[in-house]
Amino acid sequence: MRQNNLLKILAALALGACPASVFAELVDINTPGTSLILDAREGEPLKILYYGDRLSAQDAAALQDGGGAINLNAYPVYGLQPMAEAALSVTHADGNRTTDVAVTGVSKSTDADGGEVTTVAMKDRYYPLEVNVNYRTYPGDEVIETWVDVKNGEKGTVTLNRFMSGYLPVRYGDVWMSSLYGTWADETNLTEEPLTHGVKMIKNKDGLRNSHTSHSEVMLSLDGKPRENTGRVIGAALCYPGNYKLFVDTDDGNYHHLFAGINEENSEYHLKKGESFTTPELALTYSDEGLGGVSRNFHRWGRAHRLHAGDKERKILLNSWEGVYFDINEPVMAGMMEDIASMGGELFVMDDGWFGDKYPRDVDNSSLGDWVVDTKKLPNGINGLLEEAKKNGIKFGIWIEPEMTNTVSELYEKHPEYIVKAPNREVVKGRGGTQLVLDLANPKVQDLVFEVVDTLMTKYPAIDYIKWDANAPVMEHGSQYLTADNQSHLYIDYHKGLEKTLDRIRAAHPDVTIQACASGGGRANWGFLPWFDEFWVSDNNDALQRVYMQWGTSYFYPAIAMASHISASPNHQTFRRIPVKFRADVAMSGRLGLEMQPRNMSDEDKAVCRQAIADYKTIRPIVQFGDLYRLQSPYDKKGVASLMYVTPAKDDAVFYWWKLDTFMGQQLPRIPMAGLDPDKTYRVHELNRIDNEPLPFEGKTFTGRYLMSNGLEMPLTYKVDYNKNTDFSSRVLRLTAL
Ligand code: DGJ
Repeated sequence: MRQNNLLKILAALALGACPASVFAELVDINTPGTSLILDAREGEPLKILYYGDRLSAQDAAALQDGGGAINLNAYPVYGLQPMAEAALSVTHADGNRTTDVAVTGVSKSTDADGGEVTTVAMKDRYYPLEVNVNYRTYPGDEVIETWVDVKNGEKGTVTLNRFMSGYLPVRYGDVWMSSLYGTWADETNLTEEPLTHGVKMIKNKDGLRNSHTSHSEVMLSLDGKPRENTGRVIGAALCYPGNYKLFVDTDDGNYHHLFAGINEENSEYHLKKGESFTTPELALTYSDEGLGGVSRNFHRWGRAHRLHAGDKERKILLNSWEGVYFDINEPVMAGMMEDIASMGGELFVMDDGWFGDKYPRDVDNSSLGDWVVDTKKLPNGINGLLEEAKKNGIKFGIWIEPEMTNTVSELYEKHPEYIVKAPNREVVKGRGGTQLVLDLANPKVQDLVFEVVDTLMTKYPAIDYIKWDANAPVMEHGSQYLTADNQSHLYIDYHKGLEKTLDRIRAAHPDVTIQACASGGGRANWGFLPWFDEFWVSDNNDALQRVYMQWGTSYFYPAIAMASHISASPNHQTFRRIPVKFRADVAMSGRLGLEMQPRNMSDEDKAVCRQAIADYKTIRPIVQFGDLYRLQSPYDKKGVASLMYVTPAKDDAVFYWWKLDTFMGQQLPRIPMAGLDPDKTYRVHELNRIDNEPLPFEGKTFTGRYLMSNGLEMPLTYKVDYNKNTDFSSRVLRLTAL
């Protein structure tokens, strides 16, 4: 009988039923390699029975009523048994703080993106409060997205006190959590720690930049200390660009309890009669190929369904920021365009400092909001620059920070009511001592932000790229737009407003490339990327530290989304001197760009960059669309880090090797490769070569089997003229199947 139900669901799925009620006790949500099994009996709470490796219909059916199933509430609600953590906590219109939901139906539908959505409808047993738990899968992808809709059918206002996107019980054991933490110029450091009793929480309360400190993604290694290519691992990524909370509660029972959602602190949400609330999605994935398997699952899914234009190659660009900072003027911009074009680059991005009329933006303390060209700096305006770009055969991009203003700006003079501010308080100011955040909860501000982009793009349709920056947190809790009783909506309504605005922008301008930047890497989140083509990883371009930062970022994000630039030496943040070859070899493991004044580069350095750009063009599809295999972690402190990208057909690959420190007599491990086809034969070719003579294996062929068992022996230094020796060393190899 249960198996029949399961078959009915599978049949409905196969037919792409849209939407069809397929009410059944056993709900089986499958990806090609994983299964999430739920028990959805009418009149009972929804139970989760299993999440992991794909189950046969027979095993799935055997889980019900025992058989080693988890059998815990799939979306625990607060009130009855209030000592346990809950995903949803509600105060009903009559003040009752308990909720007790039971399943009323299960339906399946297909969405516009080809996703298959399973919705388990639940209702409070007494109150007309509906709670729908949704699960979405995409054919061929290993990620299950889950989210919840809460609808208030009560006579009065219901308050949501906690409203998590999802909950997942993970069997108690030697479970380790991998997560990322950081700060400005030191983003995405990796932490790996065992889950012990108590609560491990990762959270953000910045309001805008939610990936500077910790990230809203984790991996849970179920078989002890995390391993790269083996072991069972669950990945969880909360797709939300605002304040979040992700925690694991390990109590005295048999499970670690993972909860993830919007951070409810100071954000209780009121629903009037008839109103609904939809949580952001929590993306879950599972792999028995270790951390790497989970990363590849996230990357494939993300490129296909989350990242804007995830199937389009990204251009190689020069950004003006570290080259000239605010010293923008026409001849300098023209020179930079000429230089990047001569090096083979495809795009020039003019960063901060180009705007402001009454208040010119010469430093960081004015003009945000006054998005008019400073004609003293750029007498021929944007059109003049676009002409220049065209002349050089490259595209042109521009920096804006549309969610912000300064006390010193025409916008603020006209509309002081547009900023985030609490009544009876002095305005709290940020960057430059004057920066303020615009209140995106206000529809007029949403219109304003839309118009900033729309006007730019309508006036100058040739603009190819926008760097969208955001350099301040919410600095005081107050909306001048929201009513007194809805002030707690500020953080959430800000993001709802921003999303609406971004929807309008994308509907009007689908093709412009937009980078998400927020004081460096503050906006690396899957919840932001549906509108953005990439994110800025960090304002720290020090290649050595970038090896670590990009390593951590790669746990959840693909190379195509990671803007990675060659900058000057000494580095502007760490003051480290790193040869351009190493800087290029690191930058070309992400979306390659440059960020310096080419006029200050030696001809020799320019030649290395020219070569790197030419070589990157040959491997761009492998890096940007390939599968990542991390081989040797920099965090293992073995003196070397290494990774590779392999095409899905395993017929082409790029191998990266970076030496991280130098000591005489150093013995470095030889790095076996991964992800290749053991039975294919690959020809090896070094990219970005600066050595006087080729590597011993240049042009030779090896089987994938040999390369994956043995790797290749990397020399510890470059073989260059004596005076060109440095303490850095790195290699990039292309492996092409015959
Ligand atoms: C912060 C960004 O992270 C930088 O790359 C640069 O765009 C500056 N803002 C400009 O003010």
